[in-house]
Amino acid sequence: MPSENFKALVLRRPAERIEAAVETLTDGDLPAGDVLVRVHYSDVGYKDGLAITGAGHRQLVQSFPFVPGVDFAGVVELSDSVRFKPGDEVIVTGWGVGERHWGGYAKKARVKAEWLVPVPAGMTMRQAMTYGSAGLSAMLCVNALERHGVVAGSDILVTGATGGVGSVAVMLLHRLGYRVHGSTSRAEEEIYLRALGADEIVAAKDISELPAQPLLPERWTGAIDNVGGATLANVLASTAYGGAVAALGLVGGTDLQTTVLPFIKRGVALLGVDSEKCPNETRGAAWRRLVEILPEGLPDDVIEEIGLEALPARAEAIMRGKVRGRTLVAL
Ligand SMILES: NC(=O)c1ccc[n+]([C@@H]2O[C@H](COP(=O)([O-])OP(=O)(O)OC[C@H]3O[C@@H](n4cnc5c(N)ncnc54)[C@H](OP(=O)(O)O)[C@@H]3O)[C@@H](O)[C@H]2O)c1
Repeated sequence: MPSENFKALVLRRPAERIEAAVETLTDGDLPAGDVLVRVHYSDVGYKDGLAITGAGHRQLVQSFPFVPGVDFAGVVELSDSVRFKPGDEVIVTGWGVGERHWGGYAKKARVKAEWLVPVPAGMTMRQAMTYGSAGLSAMLCVNALERHGVVAGSDILVTGATGGVGSVAVMLLHRLGYRVHGSTSRAEEEIYLRALGADEIVAAKDISELPAQPLLPERWTGAIDNVGGATLANVLASTAYGGAVAALGLVGGTDLQTTVLPFIKRGVALLGVDSEKCPNETRGAAWRRLVEILPEGLPDDVIEEIGLEALPARAEAIMRGKVRGRTLVAL
């Protein structure tokens, strides 16, 4: 197949500051890998915001030039792997893509076959990227809570509820019959969250600014926490006897100052969730469960579609907590 020119968002670091610009690349610029994918869609999650802006205690991307984009869905063009053939529709999320390996903000990507999963039956490539790592992780969190024994009808809190993970988590929990408490710093998004299925809206500061106490009144049986820091500590302290908290995010900080009391007095479990290196069988099952629970996909209200040029501004916005729902990137 002849090499072709294509557009990509490229990060460079001429000084200490990262600069992001749309450039023209060719197949020969792509890193090594055994599968060449024509990318149709990517998305923007919090980690992409970190990669593009260089924010955080340590810049996420360390080698330049670099094409970010943690997630993408596309069609296999060339494959040296027996597992995939030209024409297969595939998804890549995590595995250091968009962080240590060139990612999905380009019309083409060359990656390792072991990072790919097929687009599940009943889902389009576009729908796959409306979920991305965020939707996959929301599904993994729900699965983790269920494995712990949290049952439909219980009260479940979702923090950072208007974000990408949060929006999908609220929808999944609602569809499965849970009573969903959405915690948000944006009171003006109450109508949005209720439309997704939130039964109760909690002001984020009413959790993060609670006086730090080892145990607080029991308010929910389970929680999905995107925020970390003081929020996670107070979520644990407010979880009912025998409940569980699935922790996956750090938008409010990486520290966790808690005591053992929620664990030893109330039997509360803290369940860590990671979608980046989660085994392919687990992620494949989670992708298929997303189709089962939400066969129609996410509503338009949750999705905003942008192109490569809009990515730097979107990355700044996500770092400021100003993005609602999921951002889809059309290549
Ligand atoms: N472990 C994993 O495998 C995994 C996978 C995907 C994502 N994540 C993590 O999950 C988190 C959410 O990701 P996302 O893509 O959904 O991000 P996102 O779309 O930016 O959503 C995060 C939400 O958190 C709230 N928020 C933002 N800044 C905050 C702050 N400083 N303090 C408290 N709340 C704040 C906002 O919701 P409100 O305005 O409603 O409060 C925001 O919409 C991130 O930390 C991301 O790194 C982890």
